[in-house]
Amino acid sequence: MSNTDLDLLRVQKAVEALRQGQLVAFPTETVYGLGADAASSAALERLYKAKGRPTNHPVIVHLHHVDQLGDWAASVSGPAKLLAEAFWPGPLTLIVPRAAHVLDQVTGGQSTVGLRIPNHRLALDLLQCFGGGLAAPSANKFGRLSPTTAQDVVADFADEVAMVLDGGPCDVGIESTIVDVTSADVRILRPGMILADHIEEVLGKPLSLPGNKYQAPRVSGGLPSHYAPQTPLVLVASEKLEQIIKAELAAGKKLAVLSFCISSTGTASGAAIVAPGEASEYARQLYRNLRKLDQSNSDLIVVEQVPPGGAWSGVADRLQRAAADQLQMRGETA
Ligand code: TXA
Ligand code: MG
Repeated sequence: MSNTDLDLLRVQKAVEALRQGQLVAFPTETVYGLGADAASSAALERLYKAKGRPTNHPVIVHLHHVDQLGDWAASVSGPAKLLAEAFWPGPLTLIVPRAAHVLDQVTGGQSTVGLRIPNHRLALDLLQCFGGGLAAPSANKFGRLSPTTAQDVVADFADEVAMVLDGGPCDVGIESTIVDVTSADVRILRPGMILADHIEEVLGKPLSLPGNKYQAPRVSGGLPSHYAPQTPLVLVASEKLEQIIKAELAAGKKLAVLSFCISSTGTASGAAIVAPGEASEYARQLYRNLRKLDQSNSDLIVVEQVPPGGAWSGVADRLQRAAADQLQMRGETA
């Protein structure tokens, strides 16, 4: 049997499981998603329970075709249409007014719903074969690092998940850019690898609130415990890196280091990773690298701050959250 035939069989099995209200993890281009039938209250209940996520946190509904937008949105604004056409399938989630039938479990009781068409062949096959919308948060336990391989998913979940479709490592590596298009005042709620510049180019005008293009997401991704490894993590400016590493080593700490600079990684007493200098490669490896450092039994993960600028905004956001969590745990303020 060819690989394509095998994939087709797996997709068919996955669809059967989803129709029975079970959970199926699947690859997307960003991170792996934990899928449940977005029209089934029982399946959504199972999803929240497996993830350990509070039930008032909305989930993104994944679709396979732009024509399905109208099935889930009460109305589709001009900017929503433009962005969907420009970037779907792709790493972009649109927040739109919800259609009346959309369950409160999907929207967290809000008047809006998040929609996305992922750009991954296996995900699109699954969605097309399933036919409806799949609610899919990242396939990690609440507050843990997002998964970018099937093995990462298996490490977090056991028999709560009927199947994990393996589509290899994710290409983008961090979660989709979330854009609120419910009003003319288009806003980025979560930065990702589709950048503010790309969005402005398609809309033909600057996003509102210049200098404040990124608004804190209303829930979940906005909580400090999100995206964080278990090991304390500090983000350090390049010019202070050597000094901080020296001081922590002198204090007897075992250090894991993620830095652009070989001389810094060379001094790490735990694991060390030389970070890629290009933003999309950095993003692709980010969660895998944080996992490796987290598993090195170090006392502290030291991460060199990434350069300023739009291309790095998604990566900078995830790193800031990981570090903010540690500050919060130690009773300091970010
Ligand atoms: O790339 C991604 O977006 C991945 C893959 C699996 O598609 N999914 C993902 O889902 O990151 P999750 O549940 O881990 O994060 C979804 C984010 C949360 O921060 C949630 O608050 C926000 O989307 N969200 C969902 N619906 C929303 C809504 N109606 N209004 C505001 N934020 C919403
Ligand atoms: Mg998540």
